[in-house]
Amino acid sequence: MENMNVKPATGKLGVLCVGLGAVTSTFMTGVLMARKGLAKPVGSMTQYDKMRVGRGENKKYLRYGEIVPLADLNDIVFGAWDVYPANAYESAINAEVLKERDINPVKEELEKIVPMKAAFDKKFASRLDGDNVKECKDRWDMMEQVREDIRNFKAANDCERIVVLWAASTEVYVPVVPEVHNTLADMEAAMKADDQENIAPSMCYAMAALLEGAPFIMGAPNTTVDIPAMWELAEKTKMPIAGKDFKTGQTLVKSGFAPIIGTRCLGLRGWFSTNILGNRDGLVLDEPANFRTKEVSKLSTLESILVPEEQPDLYTDYYHKVRINYYPPRNDDKEGWDNIDIFGWMGYPMQIKIDFLCRDSILAAPLCLDLVLLSDLAARAGRYGTQRFLSFFLKSPMHDYTQGEIPVNHLFQQYAILKNAIREMGGYEADQEID
Ligand SMILES: NC(=O)c1ccc[n+]([C@@H]2O[C@H](COP(=O)([O-])OP(=O)(O)OC[C@H]3O[C@@H](n4cnc5c(N)ncnc54)[C@H](O)[C@@H]3O)[C@@H](O)[C@H]2O)c1
Repeated sequence: MENMNVKPATGKLGVLCVGLGAVTSTFMTGVLMARKGLAKPVGSMTQYDKMRVGRGENKKYLRYGEIVPLADLNDIVFGAWDVYPANAYESAINAEVLKERDINPVKEELEKIVPMKAAFDKKFASRLDGDNVKECKDRWDMMEQVREDIRNFKAANDCERIVVLWAASTEVYVPVVPEVHNTLADMEAAMKADDQENIAPSMCYAMAALLEGAPFIMGAPNTTVDIPAMWELAEKTKMPIAGKDFKTGQTLVKSGFAPIIGTRCLGLRGWFSTNILGNRDGLVLDEPANFRTKEVSKLSTLESILVPEEQPDLYTDYYHKVRINYYPPRNDDKEGWDNIDIFGWMGYPMQIKIDFLCRDSILAAPLCLDLVLLSDLAARAGRYGTQRFLSFFLKSPMHDYTQGEIPVNHLFQQYAILKNAIREMGGYEADQEID
């Protein structure tokens, strides 16, 4: 570590997860197993990836933790909120993502992670009917109750720092309403006036986290922190925010594969993506209003990689369709199909088919770990507001759309941004070299 200006990662890091479902229980179980040496955190960039720092004779290939101070897995303390009262052990068993033999060695630790009452409103996820829910006078009170939970958790677990990660169900689509979402003052007023339509419960968690000095990460496609009022709050509290939507299966493929078409200057006529999925996430997304939030997020990926204005001959009017179908027999084992209609020399058509038989939560868990550790790092490095370097991990990366800023969706450009941010935080020079 060279001339680094990042506070050390001393003491315990509280990781508070909103939602204790398939993704969260898989994430927690994996971390607890890894720290006992019983499993490997495969897929986690912070645990495996190496990058070059320095040039010429001074170049070295180092892991992230050798460049910047990252929290140690042994220093993580988990907590959660959920609409259902099941503890993390019960949740991991119910989710059926992991085999019992991969859960039981950390059963005692998981059983101690009992979800706090959720800040929840059924209007935002009508298919959920759990009763582990807070009684709230209004949205402001909902936010204050979450703040109290964070403070109590931090004190009870002797945590130095907290990160709040949303890995709860996708809420119904909340469009940006300028009178409510453009300024912090207006958003606070709407909470106090109990505007239940425009203030989603997720916004109460996010505001509470930022006010308690904790970075907030949005792992679902919800607009929660992707509004100017939250950007203002993140600036004011000097806290990092990141979102939206974990980039796990199909969109990872898309953001890695579309650059092949674009780099090779092939044309695109259409890209049809469909999924079958049978877990609770799939059940919630079967509701059209909840799917709409996901659709907006998933559709945005291609437009900034294969840009019609830049290459009108190749990318004008391509048809892009994304579907998710709830299909219970597959549970968490998602199947994502992509049919890509491309064209080449003199316009002759060709097709590409990709069938990704993936495991949703197995892909999401390492992203949770990376996002948590890197957001905590960002806070210690004094970075605040939207963390664009985390776009690599996200399907619908946040960007300042009020200034006409374009999100970066191209996986390899995102990777360069990620590496350069870590280099800079580690006191090394950012550069454009390819390794
Ligand atoms: N697994 C993936 O590949 C992936 C990728 C991108 C995004 N996501 C998103 O991550 C989220 C979690 O996915 P999952 O498979 O674990 O879903 P899940 O349904 O298993 O778990 C979500 C949990 O959130 C709880 N919840 C809902 N609203 C809540 C609230 N207001 N407060 C507290 N708890 C609440 C639910 O009761 C449920 O237990 C979803 O939004 C999903 O869209 C997952």
